[in-house]
Amino acid sequence: MERRPLVAANLKMNDLPEGALEEDSPFRERGNADVIAIPTFLDIDKCIGKYIITGAQYGGRFDVAEGAYTGDISMQMLYDRRVRYVLCGHSERRELHNESNDNVIEQAVAVLKHNMHPIICVGENSEQRKTGKEKDVVSEQLAGFPFNSVSYTVAYEPIWAIGEKALRAATPEEAEEMHAYIRSLLDEEHRAVTRILYGGSVKPNDEAGKMIRQPNIDGFLVGGCSLQLDKFKGILDIVNEATGE
Ligand code: 13P
Repeated sequence: MERRPLVAANLKMNDLPEGALEEDSPFRERGNADVIAIPTFLDIDKCIGKYIITGAQYGGRFDVAEGAYTGDISMQMLYDRRVRYVLCGHSERRELHNESNDNVIEQAVAVLKHNMHPIICVGENSEQRKTGKEKDVVSEQLAGFPFNSVSYTVAYEPIWAIGEKALRAATPEEAEEMHAYIRSLLDEEHRAVTRILYGGSVKPNDEAGKMIRQPNIDGFLVGGCSLQLDKFKGILDIVNEATGE
């Protein structure tokens, strides 16, 4: 595999699970995959204090370091606290905070400007998939992103396969088809090196093993299972095993 896998724990609006900061925490594992934790803002310092590579779930898209932006947090603040990754446009933020495609791209550009690494989340809802619009939706979500930027990650999260309300898991073939499509959108220089993560109810099971063996799936963005460290560790084991082949 020419790209080192990346497994990211999106803790969403949850406290760190017990043991997350301990010596044997999977968030601190240094195996064949890069591992990052993306906790709430309140837990960022704790994770960084334990040398966990840490991301933020959001950062302000406005080009200011501080000021009258109630409820916001600037990219400069994140960078100064040694955050290195920022999720941009998670479907829950697009839906619940009305983040538009343009807002998400502005946010990703702001992340890059502050020498951090955006993880741009894309994905269609069930209606859009039913009507065969999934690729159009994803390409619109990425339109305007400067693909020739230093380095970035894309996460494909089909909304219909996320969280407790998931209709079903995407098959490895469905996911691979979309990942290959996303890769085709990237510029030539970044096509081979950019990691594209899958995030839709990833669990430590055979499906995850099949997913990670797909040529265009380079790791996972894990929601629910990042709150159960034994399960998160199970996912890492599957990735490590596949990468060791
Ligand atoms: P689940 O793994 O809980 O389906 O969440 C996926 C997700 O939204 C990760 O960002």
